[in-house]
Order: sequence, then structure tokens, then C-alpha cells
Amino acid sequence: MTLPLRPELEGLTPYGAPQLDVAAMLNVNENPYPPPPSVVAAITAAVRQAAGGLNRYPDREFMALRADLARYLALESRVDFLEPKNIWAANGSNEIMLHLHQAFAGPGRKVLSFAPTYSMYPEYSRDTVTDYVTLPRREDFRLDMDAAVAAIADIKPTIVLVASPNNPTGTALGLDEVIALADACAKIPGGSVLVVDEAYAEFRRRGVPSAAT
Ligand SMILES: Cc1ncc(COP(=O)(O)O)c(C=O)c1O
Repeated sequence: MTLPLRPELEGLTPYGAPQLDVAAMLNVNENPYPPPPSVVAAITAAVRQAAGGLNRYPDREFMALRADLARYLALESRVDFLEPKNIWAANGSNEIMLHLHQAFAGPGRKVLSFAPTYSMYPEYSRDTVTDYVTLPRREDFRLDMDAAVAAIADIKPTIVLVASPNNPTGTALGLDEVIALADACAKIPGGSVLVVDEAYAEFRRRGVPSAAT
């Protein structure tokens, strides 16, 4: 039987970070230490309690989780003004990125990013039938800010996507760079959303602030 696969997906191999058997597994931002027994016990107790209500859908707005994430950001990133209503959560940041593309990108629109960067970025665009455009990073992997600001004005992307620290280069954005990109986005008629992907926030060097501060 032939399935009606979109022609542009034919022959592609699915994304997957390699699960390697090596001494230092750093490639997928995992913790080398297992959770302590007290955390395992707390998870087990919470699952036991939740299991008794599985005949109903859970809270669709997951407000308790969003409140906990806001508290975590206050500790990790010193961003203490966020409330649950400012936070969204999903199955990994990949799903959130897809939500952002579904809302703000799509056919006839462009996403701008800066290569080399996270290999999933073109895939979010492909999956939402969006044009994915990249500008090369400088030799030290920082952004060429003049070129970036000019490209935003020229290309008029509806999303500008930057990882900070960047995968695979580890380069983080300074607040001055975040502000310059946000200002350039604000000038686009119809709007442009600056997405700063801090999936690797915990690897920022001391003193490098979160874009959310
Ligand atoms: C820069 C960057 N953003 C997002 C992700 C996806 O993270 P998640 O596992 O939360 O979907 C990764 C995973 O490698 C990443 O490197």
C-alpha cells in the first residue's frame, strides 16, 4: 500500500541525538547523576496520587507546573517578575518551538537564524512549510550584529531564532545583542518575534544574564 507522504519528506532520516556509550555523555544536556532517593520517593508519591484520577483529563492549563517553572526561573536566571500566565510548557522545548512556528511562521513567511546552530531549526520550518534563512556566524561564532540587524530589516522574518548558549558552538548572547535584535524585530511592519532558545541556560558562563532578565 502506498501512503500519501509529503514528497519533500521522502528519503529523509528522522532527527535523533545519538545515545553514545562513552565516558562523558555531554551531547544531550543530561545530568550524569541519578535523582536522589528523596526525589524518586516524591515522584512516586505524586504519580500514585495522580493515578487515582486518570479517568479524567488533567488540568489543561497545568497551572501548578507553570508556577513551579516560574519559581525555578527566579532561582536559575534571576527572573523574578514572571507569573504562571507568562510561562508555557510542553513536551520538551522542541514542542514549544513547533507551537511558536505554528502560531507565527507558516507558508509565505520566513524564519531567520544564524549558522552553525541547532540542527532542528530547519526542521521546525520544514514542518510548518516556512522558508528557513540563515546568516553565517563570524569566525569566533558570535553574531555579526550589523549584518544581523540589516538582514532582519531586509528579509522581514516573522521569527528570529537564536540559541544562547548556541548549540553546537557554546556562544552566548550578551544583553546588548538581545536588545539590538529585539529592536530590529520591533521595526518590522506586521511584527517579528525574537525567540531566544536557552535550552542550555545552565551552561552559561558566570555573569552572562538570561535574555529574560
Ligand atoms: C539549542 C537547543 N534547543 C532545543 C533543544 C531541544 O530540547 P528538548 O529536549 O527540550 O526538546 C535542543 C536539544 O538538543 C537544543 O540543543
